[in-house]
Amino acid sequence: MVELAKGNTEVVAAKISQSIACEQLELQAVTSYPKSYNKMVEIAENEKRDQLRPLFYGLEKALKREILFLGFSNWCGGLPKIVVHFLENYNIKGKTIFPFCTLEGSAFGNSLFELKALCPHAKIMTDRACCTWLSCL
Ligand SMILES: Cc1cc2nc3c(=O)[nH]c(=O)nc-3n(C[C@H](O)[C@H](O)[C@H](O)COP(=O)(O)O)c2cc1C
Repeated sequence: MVELAKGNTEVVAAKISQSIACEQLELQAVTSYPKSYNKMVEIAENEKRDQLRPLFYGLEKALKREILFLGFSNWCGGLPKIVVHFLENYNIKGKTIFPFCTLEGSAFGNSLFELKALCPHAKIMTDRACCTWLSCL
């Protein structure tokens, strides 16, 4: 297994932030996730099955922005639960969100439906949403 210096979503986020000159922020888990893919899938499946809400460090800076590019990887067919927790706790009302997603093969899965349900008062630019496959050597 190859251990990447940066995750796929972080790589895409860096490209977006460089090309439009915006600040790149990261949602960080309080309890860090393991590097093992199999263990990670097990954890993500538990989070999904038990509707867990993993704790994250504050991301107040994101609230100051009117437009957010929200990147995440497809986990078990949808949004990682830590992203769900973030969106439930922060008032995204009135903001414009451009979602982007990295994945293996399931494109956005359910994530855009989840996003709309979690942020009913945000403008979610699903017509401009982009999902990305990255090939890492
Ligand atoms: C826990 C877990 C669950 C995943 N579930 C899916 C999935 O359901 N569909 C899919 O296409 N890719 C899935 N993937 C692959 C990731 O979406 C893909 O590798 C992504 O680019 C990882 O982003 P990252 O490097 O920023 O963590 C999963 C990966 C992990 C770790």
